[in-house]
Amino acid sequence: MKVRNDISQLFTIAKANQNYLNVCAPMVRYSKVQFRTLVRSYDTDLTFTPMILADSFCQNAKARSNEFTTTVNDSPLIVQFAANDVNDFVDASKLVYPYADGVDLNCGCPQRWAMKDGYGCALLSKPEVIHELVKVHGRTPIQKSSENIDVHALRTVCESVTVPVIVNGGIKTLSDADYLYDQTNCNGVMAASGLLVNPALFNQWKGCGGFYRRAWLNRLTTTECSGWKLSARLSFRAVPKSQTNLGA
Ligand SMILES: Cc1cc2nc3c(=O)[nH]c(=O)nc-3n(C[C@H](O)[C@H](O)[C@H](O)COP(=O)(O)O)c2cc1C
Repeated sequence: MKVRNDISQLFTIAKANQNYLNVCAPMVRYSKVQFRTLVRSYDTDLTFTPMILADSFCQNAKARSNEFTTTVNDSPLIVQFAANDVNDFVDASKLVYPYADGVDLNCGCPQRWAMKDGYGCALLSKPEVIHELVKVHGRTPIQKSSENIDVHALRTVCESVTVPVIVNGGIKTLSDADYLYDQTNCNGVMAASGLLVNPALFNQWKGCGGFYRRAWLNRLTTTECSGWKLSARLSFRAVPKSQTNLGA
């Protein structure tokens, strides 16, 4: 039987404890079930699937099994769809309902192919489709991922809406997440590339030393996600030893 979580309840509990949810971002090719399981074991409270195209998910059983795999313990989980049509989004959400705790509509993908087909950032010019936006990225579509996020704009959004807000952009350490929470009073802080480098980012140790590295590589040998395995190893090599606190 699938474990289920009430996401709004999680936000309420975090707020009552004057805390925020640690969130693993949607990441194409990466935030699959193995990676979600891993980061969850290091204090990530909420995870997203990679972006899934809603129309092919609805039309094609093969696309469904390729794009979405899960386990009974794969929760709290939000499935992210890319859709340019409300019916596709609703139909895909119904299909995934037994296996997920929520769905997310991608409004942030700035890639040219997505914009051309009316997905991702293209939806930002259609506010009527996305009037319940809960995830806010701190950069505009034309800004590079290396540019600083706009913390003031994020705070304004957090102060202006009543739905829970997850903020993201540039989170590399637990201190970064704490800082953004202090500055914005948000409900959740999401990390993407930072978690690829350090899946224990939200863990109190603030770094991936030898223990984590071994645990992760042990898990990798039990998965079949070879593309991700390679990238994972490369990311680990990229962490300077001085940034780890558990030794090699
Ligand atoms: C490898 C990779 C894949 C991504 N795939 C998605 C995706 O499927 N959907 C999405 O909304 N954002 C995607 N993003 C964007 C991230 O969710 C996040 O908003 C962005 O990377 C900024 O956060 P960061 O500074 O913590 O990396 C992806 C980012 C990376 C690095």
